[in-house]
Amino acid sequence: MPLKMYKSGESTSPKIKHIIGIAAGKGGVGKSTVTVNLAYALKSMGYKVGVMDTDIYGPSIRKMLPEDRFPEQAGQNIIPALCQGIRMISMAYFRKENEASVVRAPIANGVITQFIKNVDWGDLDYLLIDFPPGTGDIQLTLCQQANLSGAIMVTTPQQVAVMDVRKAMHMFEQVKIPIIGVVENMSYYFHRQTGEELHLFGKGGGKSLADETGVPFLGCIPIDPQLCQSGDTGRSLFAEQEEKSTTVKRFLEISKQVVDHVDLLTENAKSFMKSFELQWKEMPNV
Ligand SMILES: Nc1ncnc2c1ncn2[C@@H]1O[C@H](COP(=O)(O)OP(=O)(O)OP(=O)(O)O)[C@@H](O)[C@H]1O
Ligand SMILES: [Mg+2]
Repeated sequence: MPLKMYKSGESTSPKIKHIIGIAAGKGGVGKSTVTVNLAYALKSMGYKVGVMDTDIYGPSIRKMLPEDRFPEQAGQNIIPALCQGIRMISMAYFRKENEASVVRAPIANGVITQFIKNVDWGDLDYLLIDFPPGTGDIQLTLCQQANLSGAIMVTTPQQVAVMDVRKAMHMFEQVKIPIIGVVENMSYYFHRQTGEELHLFGKGGGKSLADETGVPFLGCIPIDPQLCQSGDTGRSLFAEQEEKSTTVKRFLEISKQVVDHVDLLTENAKSFMKSFELQWKEMPNV
């Protein structure tokens, strides 16, 4: 499908309750895997969910979350794809499968702006935005234009990952976007024969990052070959497993925490607005 460049207008989707960024700064820590599985989890909890893949140069969500219905062009707007009941948009729909996105930064930014302004999501409870790695131009555009309720930070326990995630948290702090919490991915591998948890990438990095920065720790996801496989086949672990695996349970627990923390952030923002209004009314006339 050709992607036409439109003049950016107002958001076509004023009916999205919460927009959440899933970010890390670091590449390969599992942002897209966490995004897709949080989407499945929130959907299984009865919420209306959308996913925006903002990785222009390496979009992977379409593989992980294949479509039942393609996106469509409707006048100036794009109707997102429908993937197992989850609405989704990705650069992967606008180029051939094995074709690289060779575009300069301003074009990539233009595409992101279109994803923000011109996708008609309809009613959504949660729109999850999968951030690309790094803290560059696209990430800043998303922070400034996407009207995020907050961001979920994904890290592995490894110090090298934690270091980059800390930097990305600083970026969100600078643009005044609250951090909903930290998810530690690839926390350990459960060895069935010995019953041991093997900490292949170190231990406790996510929890200590959350404690150090004063944000909630949302939970750990183990290294799970089935999760990896589910990303490759596009088949949801939530649909396939009658008895829920530890991984599925963890995603459900994390989603419940996300729902609670986002509600709290929204309440805090509302009461801040109220107190701000009161202070304003009490200002003497000068
Ligand atoms: N908990 C896990 N257990 C097993 N494999 C995992 C887990 N989390 C992620 N993976 C695998 O690790 C790889 C990287 O994951 P993913 O693509 O989600 O990372 P990312 O942070 O989005 O990467 P990028 O920075 O390239 O966008 C994928 O092959 C994915 O299937
Ligand atoms: Mg990714």
